[in-house]
Amino acid sequence: MSWTIGFVGAGVMAETMISGLLAEGFEPGRILASHRRADRVAELSALGVSATLDNRVAAAADVVVISVKPQTLLGVLAEVKGAVRPDALVVSIVAGARLRVLQVVLGHHKVVRCMPNLPCRIRRGMTVWCAAGELGDGDRARVAAVLGVMGKHIEVQDEGHVDRATAVNGTGPAIVAHFVKAFIEAAGYIGEPRGVARETVLETMLGTAEMILQNEGHIAELIDEVTSPGGTTSRALQVLKNGRFSAVLTESVDAAYQRTRELGDALEAALPPA
Ligand SMILES: NC(=O)c1ccc[n+]([C@@H]2O[C@H](COP(=O)([O-])OP(=O)(O)OC[C@H]3O[C@@H](n4cnc5c(N)ncnc54)[C@H](OP(=O)(O)O)[C@@H]3O)[C@@H](O)[C@H]2O)c1
Repeated sequence: MSWTIGFVGAGVMAETMISGLLAEGFEPGRILASHRRADRVAELSALGVSATLDNRVAAAADVVVISVKPQTLLGVLAEVKGAVRPDALVVSIVAGARLRVLQVVLGHHKVVRCMPNLPCRIRRGMTVWCAAGELGDGDRARVAAVLGVMGKHIEVQDEGHVDRATAVNGTGPAIVAHFVKAFIEAAGYIGEPRGVARETVLETMLGTAEMILQNEGHIAELIDEVTSPGGTTSRALQVLKNGRFSAVLTESVDAAYQRTRELGDALEAALPPA
């Protein structure tokens, strides 16, 4: 395993991936990372990787991870075009950026679009990815090596899944954290001390998720099991229904999905006519 990996625009998510690779024993000398600010380059150097102000240096690796924000993507792609080697595998984590845009602007075929999420930082991430341009077994092994250090990953054939994943697993940690915060505050409202509330809410969430993961019956059956007629859970669920909890959640996820599509459309609109 002697291939190199370069991160172009090494911010929060790139550092998450770099930390995972280092923890997994990937040699620091095989990791390149570029950034536009010298102070950030110094921070990246402190991780032991080869950090540079020159995006084209990072883009000359065997696996090139594009990790800038969507708004700066086109400028950065134009800058590194030509520096990417013909046999390189380009992996983009940029929200909304479609495979076609990456291929056309870079003039490069072997491209992977993926959507990781923040829990990748503690190796409990979820990444959904889609490839274009005929990846070989070696390419797939490299994708698995990079994404595997961050948690679970699944390959999908239809790129639409990556748009939806952006709204579900990409945005998900913020939605879940928002829910956890509100739940802890609610426990505080009825008098539970903050520490107890935090532990109770988190353990309840983890335990419930674990039960669902272990297929302990259908989710609706689980709800049924704790809901006795006229009981406490029944009262709680009625309030959630009256407050349009499920509808609001759907609207929230749909808003993230629509924004993902908007970002993708804006990038595509900037392409030269086919
Ligand atoms: N954060 C998440 O949870 C998450 C999850 C999934 C996917 N993503 C996607 O991952 C990408 C990166 O997200 P992030 O959260 O890591 O953002 P980030 O921390 O802002 O990382 C991007 C970095 O690129 C730098 N940069 C901007 N222009 C540059 C240029 N021309 N050359 C070199 N570096 C440049 C930025 O520098 P400055 O600091 O100077 O602006 C920033 O440090 C985004 O496209 C996002 O959609 C993020």
